Amino acid sequence: MSTHLEAKENISATPSGSSTLSFRGLVECLETQTTPPTLEQLNIWLANARISREDLRAYTGFKEGNYWRHRVFRNDSVEMLVLCWRPGHKTPIHDHNGSHGAVKVHEGVLWETTFAYDKDQGLCYRTMRECQAGEITGAGVPDIHQLGNPEVSGQDLITIHIYAPPLGVLNTYKVGSPVIDLYTPDDSEA
Ligand SMILES: [Fe+2]
Repeated sequence: MSTHLEAKENISATPSGSSTLSFRGLVECLETQTTPPTLEQLNIWLANARISREDLRAYTGFKEGNYWRHRVFRNDSVEMLVLCWRPGHKTPIHDHNGSHGAVKVHEGVLWETTFAYDKDQGLCYRTMRECQAGEITGAGVPDIHQLGNPEVSGQDLITIHIYAPPLGVLNTYKVGSPVIDLYTPDDSEA
């Protein structure tokens, strides 16, 4: 099931005792995970995280033609990435092949389109939404979606992603087609 949360709304739902997380605190929290955390937990961590542009400096870099994935941390249970998108960059339509994930918009505007798969009709458009800086969107299993920095945004986009378990080979889809392909995210520079 997809979730779309304003950070401040999620903080109010956080159990008492949890507190603001620094960038380093978030990474240290992930490092202690020995089983994949739930989607709800990923949302809470991202909602509580207070991350600055300076925190992301080592993970900020753009390239032409496609978004750039920068890996912050990965173990067997969870991974964290920073993605940098120029206007017009977008993912293929994909699901996470058994992983769930949460995304926080650090700066810019994120468009997320969701789809439903029907074995007779193929892939069908479902919803479209926009996430502004500070907002969080989560994808459960088997959500099918496409993320991107809209061409018309006129600005770069930086997003923070946490996946549990870490992403492997993803399923990709095409609208109106029943064909499902496989896609391995480009980790050569992650
Ligand atoms: Fe995704």
